[in-house]
Amino acid sequence: MTSISKDLAQAVRLLQADELVAIPTETVYGLAGNIFSPPAIARIFALKQRPLFNPLIVHIPSIRQLAELARYVPEKARWLAEAFWPGPLTLVLKKQPTVPDLITAGKDTVAVRVPNHPLVLALLAQVGFPLAAPSANPFGRISPTTAAHVEEYFGAALPMVLDGGDCERGIESTIVGFEGDEPVVYRLGSLAVEEIERVVGPVAIKNKKEAAPDAPGMLSRHYAPATPTYLAADPGAFIARFADKKIGLLLFSKKVVGPFVDHQIVLSETGDLKEAASGLYGALHTLDKLGLDMIVAERMPDMGLGKSINDRLERATKQR
Ligand code: TXA
Ligand code: MG
Repeated sequence: MTSISKDLAQAVRLLQADELVAIPTETVYGLAGNIFSPPAIARIFALKQRPLFNPLIVHIPSIRQLAELARYVPEKARWLAEAFWPGPLTLVLKKQPTVPDLITAGKDTVAVRVPNHPLVLALLAQVGFPLAAPSANPFGRISPTTAAHVEEYFGAALPMVLDGGDCERGIESTIVGFEGDEPVVYRLGSLAVEEIERVVGPVAIKNKKEAAPDAPGMLSRHYAPATPTYLAADPGAFIARFADKKIGLLLFSKKVVGPFVDHQIVLSETGDLKEAASGLYGALHTLDKLGLDMIVAERMPDMGLGKSINDRLERATKQR
């Protein structure tokens, strides 16, 4: 049995014994192990069924540990870390030789962040080593935003989920790398690009570079419900063609009125993109369990976190 609990001491013991613990963060739950333990890291890849070429994000308790992982920190990286850590920003930086190749998939860079959740910050301070943690979902599936989602995915194969409640942000961190000393967004996420640009000026976005992705996890169809899922600017019009199907709608701020809809979830009645992001994966999980023929998601406004939500919906709806 997976234990879902708030027992920090138990989580520390397991991690120090090379076991895995699912950890809460402000973005999504992570599947955590000691970066310096080859068996723990092997377990992460095996449990997630994650390809070995896809590197892991390293979590540290504060900016003070950054120099142990990164051998060079451009000035703009430091500004970003100071502005947004702890928080939903991952920096990809030149790695120290001590960072194991298994973590970075043999790359010369390491992805690092300080997560913003009191339980995981306490855990990081107590274990005494950085934690590698990909999102706690099988490869290609929707990321978990509750302890129950994690348990549903892994059951007894995972010894413990440290229960930190529902994730506040609800989509993964924004990943920023550097070309020369200039920041480049590799993955849209919980930190809006506009917020990053307020600190460092205009940034390039290479989120969609599919041929040679800088964040290899971005390559494939991803974040996907098992139910066939579609993205539409006007879901009401879209579903009119499918009168005989059982349909679930995922909507931004307003319900659709009509005879065909079996289930609909409105993400934010006030039209707040932050609220919509925080409920996105939970809503997809819920709709996916209803035995529907199809899920139709509404495209969000193309600004701020709306861009990040649309990115996830596009990946979730890529046809198999
Ligand atoms: O919010 C998050 O970032 C969550 C929580 C648990 O922290 N973690 C997460 O991890 O989303 P994961 O493994 O699902 O996604 C990590 C992404 C992948 O797309 C991976 O390719 C990229 O980070 N990445 C890791 N190391 C990298 C590196 N050295 N260079 C480029 N991309 C890297
Ligand atoms: Mg993931």
